Amino acid sequence: MTIYNLGSINADWFYKVPRFPVEGETLAATDCKSGLGGKGANQSVAAARGGAEVCHIGGVGGESVWAVELMKSAGVDTTHVAINLAAPTGHALIFVEPGGENQIVIFAGTNRMLENGDIKAALARARSGDILMMQNETNGQEYAAKRARDRGLKVVYSAAPFDVDAVRRVLPLVDLLVLNQVEAEQVAEALGCEITNLPVPQLLVTHGAHGATWHDLDSGETLTVPAPKVVPVDTTGAGDTFIGYFCAGLDLGLPVAECLEMAVGAAALKVTREGTAEAIPAREEVHGFLADLKPLA
Ligand code: RIB
Ligand code: NA
Repeated sequence: MTIYNLGSINADWFYKVPRFPVEGETLAATDCKSGLGGKGANQSVAAARGGAEVCHIGGVGGESVWAVELMKSAGVDTTHVAINLAAPTGHALIFVEPGGENQIVIFAGTNRMLENGDIKAALARARSGDILMMQNETNGQEYAAKRARDRGLKVVYSAAPFDVDAVRRVLPLVDLLVLNQVEAEQVAEALGCEITNLPVPQLLVTHGAHGATWHDLDSGETLTVPAPKVVPVDTTGAGDTFIGYFCAGLDLGLPVAECLEMAVGAAALKVTREGTAEAIPAREEVHGFLADLKPLA
């Protein structure tokens, strides 16, 4: 089966800072580097490294062929990434503190200039059982989700970055909603209900260093997995890595418990590395990492 991912592609600019700057302050970074990012691109790369067939739906400016090439070399089908010569590629300014925590400012650029016609063309080959992934850094989620449902796809939506209007519009079209703890509180507050009463069949809540919980809201069944302990270097993109790996597992037909284990393992390993898409581990590395954690018999 195939994962279609309607998602952002960003040029990420990382600045290592001794601490986050305060209002009005000028602060020197101790290191700077750039690379491929964007929640969408990170999730596509993670899903591809996790073993899934992934078709990315998105857009970049003419200056960012390099980003598309990096996605391709990670195994992502980029046939439906539009090159938009009239606008700049999305980008992100990312401050990373010594403990690995970050602050991010994004500029959407071409990520919010996607055309329904291109989304339609990308989903033309999609079949029942395929997956549509989406986040909140592009336009077109509602259109894509409607088309996907008509074609029998499972719709997985990560409400990041949080946007109350997007959540309201998209939620009725979603099969699996993915939230981090902060987003879970924001969604609960915005919709005025407990997250376990949200009108979605399945919910996945990530708890950072504390793992993740999967909820089947129809049956009330839940499953929690702890995250492997690591020394954090850079948490940027860990959530994206988790989602991409989890969806890859679903796409490969693995049981939810195995999807969760792979996803927390991949995310934990990513946290030990600097950067975003290029720092996402391959499946063999995740297997090795998880095997090393298991006590020897
Ligand atoms: O989730 C991490 C991502 O958020 C970064 O790659 C950055 O581009 C922003 O989209
Ligand atoms: Na998106």
